[in-house]
Amino acid sequence: MSDKKATLTVDGIDEPIELPVYSGTLGPDVIDVGALTAKGLFTYDPGFVSTAACESQITFIDGGKGILLHRGYPIDQLANQSDYLETCYLLLYGELPNKEEKEKFVSTITKHTMVHEQLARFFQGFRRDAHPMAIMCGVVGALSAFYHDSLDISDESHRQIAAFRLIAKMPTLAAMSYKFSIGQPFMYPDNSMGYAENFLHMMFGNPCEPSNVSPVLSKAMDRIFTLHADHEQNASTSTVRLAGSSGANPFACIAAGIAALWGPSHGGANEAVLEMLEEIGDVYHIDEFVARAKDKNDPFRLMGFGHRVYKNFDPRAKVMKESADEVLAELGIVDDPLLAVAKRLEEIALEDEYFIERKLYPNVDFYSGIILKAMGIPTSMFTVIFAVGRTVGWIAHWHEMISGSYRIGRPRQLYTGYTQRDFKPMDQR
Ligand code: CMC
Repeated sequence: MSDKKATLTVDGIDEPIELPVYSGTLGPDVIDVGALTAKGLFTYDPGFVSTAACESQITFIDGGKGILLHRGYPIDQLANQSDYLETCYLLLYGELPNKEEKEKFVSTITKHTMVHEQLARFFQGFRRDAHPMAIMCGVVGALSAFYHDSLDISDESHRQIAAFRLIAKMPTLAAMSYKFSIGQPFMYPDNSMGYAENFLHMMFGNPCEPSNVSPVLSKAMDRIFTLHADHEQNASTSTVRLAGSSGANPFACIAAGIAALWGPSHGGANEAVLEMLEEIGDVYHIDEFVARAKDKNDPFRLMGFGHRVYKNFDPRAKVMKESADEVLAELGIVDDPLLAVAKRLEEIALEDEYFIERKLYPNVDFYSGIILKAMGIPTSMFTVIFAVGRTVGWIAHWHEMISGSYRIGRPRQLYTGYTQRDFKPMDQR
């Protein structure tokens, strides 16, 4: 924090208003507008384009330079040298674990992978064709009905165990939502396996055969989780914070985050990318779709392109692209028509004036859709996988907020509706 000030003059208010300006360790200064309410003023910022809603020490993004740091560590270093559970530890506790700390953390998470047996019956209430994200919104919220010993948000030990349970059980629930949709039996987690390996085992294994998870695919999945682990105050994380600010329990807050993530402008984009590539079909139709994306009278957008914060290459997309190349080579996929469309689309968008001017680069979802498809993950599970990876980010932000000082989140509005008028009885309407 600093003693810098901003001065605001407003027509109709005699005195200039002095507002404190704070500096973080990185990033733009922020103007504290809290004093404006007393002057009868609010700020107006739809979409929170210029608004910092909280102070945080977890993740930093410089969208102009394409930088993403978790607790100071660049995402490419974490994706290439660390693993998902180590990144979870870092996000939750602020430092990389030493060997013993890591072993203890991994063991704790691993011991929480199973879900209450009764929760499995919960799934029967859903239609077979339910979208797995719809199931996830329901069953993750339902965890609060099963784990009463982690609902007291004022108790640090409850918050800790809620975090462990959420990180550990998300892959189990995600795989169950898939197994339910295809009518196969749920697979219990196998705690001799690593986090991503176990997830693939529960997704693709069956009780009649020994498990056979490819180490290459496990590594790729672990990296996908790592790349999605956190992204500061995005729509779903802000939703978790807002829900949490009312004192709601952590499972309910994470369910709210899952709901916010589902939309195609956010996590749902990875699924939308694949649907778009399938709709384009082959490289000869690309021009038509690019023209539609540029046409202001057409709501179509190129899914997997553009980002609110990144006005440069999304650093996650860089690593994801490398990973996609590795996985495709490993799986021997060279002539895939969707891949050809994706590659050509990427080239066109990077050369086209419309995309260059607006700084619309391929984002993480563009490449994650391609890699997940190559790994044989059904499209409807793409956003669920994003949710699994992002759970640690949500819970780390929720924990940071609850363990510090916070107030219920309550935005104001610019009201443009009717002024007061008298109720009309039915016969006068
Ligand atoms: N295709 C075509 N035009 C686009 C696109 C796109 N994908 N994205 C933005 N634009 C245009 C938009 O029409 C506008 O043009 P103009 O200035 O002429 O009106 C300009 O670029 C700025 O767009 P915006 O809607 O004001 O930007 P935003 O910050 O509100 O939205 C976004 C960001 C990610 C929602 C948007 O770029 C988008 O809809 N992209 C496609 C969906 C997508 O891939 N989402 C995943 C984001 S990464 C995963 C995550 O972190 O959630």
